[in-house]
Amino acid sequence: MADVVVLPNLDALSEEAARRWIEIANAAVDARGEFSIALAGGNTPRSLYQIMASPPCSEQAPWAQTFIFFGDERRVPPDHADSNFRMAQETLLEHVPIPAEQIHRMGGQGLARTAAQDYQRTLEHHFSLGRREFPRIDLVLLGMGADGHTASIFPGTRAVSDLTNMVMVYDVPQSGQERMTLGPSVINNARNILFLVSGENKADALASVLHGEYRPSTFPAQVVKPRDGSLTFLVDKAAAANLPT
Ligand code: 6PG
Repeated sequence: MADVVVLPNLDALSEEAARRWIEIANAAVDARGEFSIALAGGNTPRSLYQIMASPPCSEQAPWAQTFIFFGDERRVPPDHADSNFRMAQETLLEHVPIPAEQIHRMGGQGLARTAAQDYQRTLEHHFSLGRREFPRIDLVLLGMGADGHTASIFPGTRAVSDLTNMVMVYDVPQSGQERMTLGPSVINNARNILFLVSGENKADALASVLHGEYRPSTFPAQVVKPRDGSLTFLVDKAAAANLPT
């Protein structure tokens, strides 16, 4: 069952997300010597990344033991305005001492199948996966679109029901772009999943995702049901407007 935490605004939501990030990261390093995180794209995480890139948070996170992955990417060059990697680079990655070889960008270019296979190999290598095993990422950050999509798992697409592929590349009609995304099986194998949802334009979808009928093809964020990890929605008051009090 999801834990829903309502914060007054995006700043407070981002501060809370940063607190949880640091707590999860240091616990992971204490337990296993490293911390893996899949970053979310879009706009909502910007303020979180900027908080994490500045003191005091930047001094509390175990950057040397942090391994960066991405939940999804638009299939554009890394310096393109639409690139999730570029957004993360500008707000966080170029400001904190993470070794470059620990940052695993999703390939935005080249053949779709090759790019998906390459990222799968990156995951298999880092997590020393056997056949048909999925990576266990310590923290997966997710946003949610006003249509209920998450990562690049969009309504009415095969990504919602594909529980086999770790990574998918497909043409997303709603965005008019080709996207790469972690599949539901990877997301749901995470130790911790943190949704960041802000803004009144998300209120209808959030209420449907959390309290509506289970229709993941219509509201793909519903497909996020961790196997045994934690699931928390950090939402601001505007996005929570239609939730039952
Ligand atoms: C992307 C994201 C996507 C995003 C939602 C919410 O590549 O766009 O991964 O899933 O999280 O669309 O986007 P905003 O945070 O901009 O509202």
